[in-house]
Amino acid sequence: MSLLQVTNLTKKFGKFTALDGVNLEVNSGEIFGFIGPNGAGKSTTIRVLLGILKATEGEVKIFGKDAWNDAVEIHKRVAYVPGDVNLWPNLTGGEVIDLFVKLRGGNNKSKREELIKKFDLDPTKKCRTYSKGNRQKVALIAAFSSDADLYILDEPTSGLDPLMEKIFQECVIEVKKEGKSVLLSSHILSEVEKLCDRVGIIREGRIIESGSLTELRHLTRTQMLVQTKEPVNLKELKGIHEIEETEQGLSFQVDTEELDNAIKHISQFGVLKLESSPPTLEDLFMRHYEGTEKAHDTGVGGGK
Ligand SMILES: Nc1ncnc2c1ncn2[C@@H]1O[C@H](COP(=O)(O)OP(=O)(O)O)[C@@H](O)[C@H]1O
Ligand SMILES: [Mg+2]
Repeated sequence: MSLLQVTNLTKKFGKFTALDGVNLEVNSGEIFGFIGPNGAGKSTTIRVLLGILKATEGEVKIFGKDAWNDAVEIHKRVAYVPGDVNLWPNLTGGEVIDLFVKLRGGNNKSKREELIKKFDLDPTKKCRTYSKGNRQKVALIAAFSSDADLYILDEPTSGLDPLMEKIFQECVIEVKKEGKSVLLSSHILSEVEKLCDRVGIIREGRIIESGSLTELRHLTRTQMLVQTKEPVNLKELKGIHEIEETEQGLSFQVDTEELDNAIKHISQFGVLKLESSPPTLEDLFMRHYEGTEKAHDTGVGGGK
């Protein structure tokens, strides 16, 4: 069942078109990854979803209600975490958490305590003394202590260290288990791909791809670096790109669907070292749109 529906959303700031016919759908019980580089239009879309900005054109529905006209009603069932959290400087973290949770009509003290412990936050400090990471924690604890049906999280882990990032991921998985839905934006594909059921990729105000990660798998390549006892010949293998001899070893990219074959092949030459790193989003975009303006127009994946 569709919980959130964005149809043909356009948002202009003066002459500048920030969003150009965006279509998005988040289903009930789903974690949806909203991915795109900085400046792509993620936050603008989210601000329209929250009724903070008015759409220039198009229709935005959450729980079947209109994001602009019915914002008050929608907000009772939505928890929101922005990427750059600003808090009341003179309130303590604990007071801000209580305030947010109360605004949403919740009162889950045990959840609040559990999350404060998990995120290792000192809730007695005034917000003005908090680092960016700590302000982020306050917003996350408030959101996950609230009993919302939809969690809208706009690059929520930008100030968090890897340990806290992991706690965040556990929180997302937990609300999903409760049947809640999550819209999670990020500019790093690898950060959200473990969590998301489906993703939508936005670039320059347009959705260029959406679907399950399996459906989008054809877009990704893994970067490899290997050292072997005997020299490896990769030429006859399928799905290998950008081969380069470096001082650290043989560097190349491999289509994710050919990864298994490639590793089997390489292992025959006596592996001394093998490193792999996930493809960056930027890299994926660059390749995907090399001279394929057509793909941009149709919104359908072009070059492989
Ligand atoms: N209030 C605004 N006025 C003018 N331009 C804006 C405004 N908000 C965002 N933009 C522009 O819209 C584009 C998309 O921004 P944003 O949605 O913040 O991107 P993202 O969140 O994906 O990094 C950017 O080029 C940004 O400069
Ligand atoms: Mg943003």
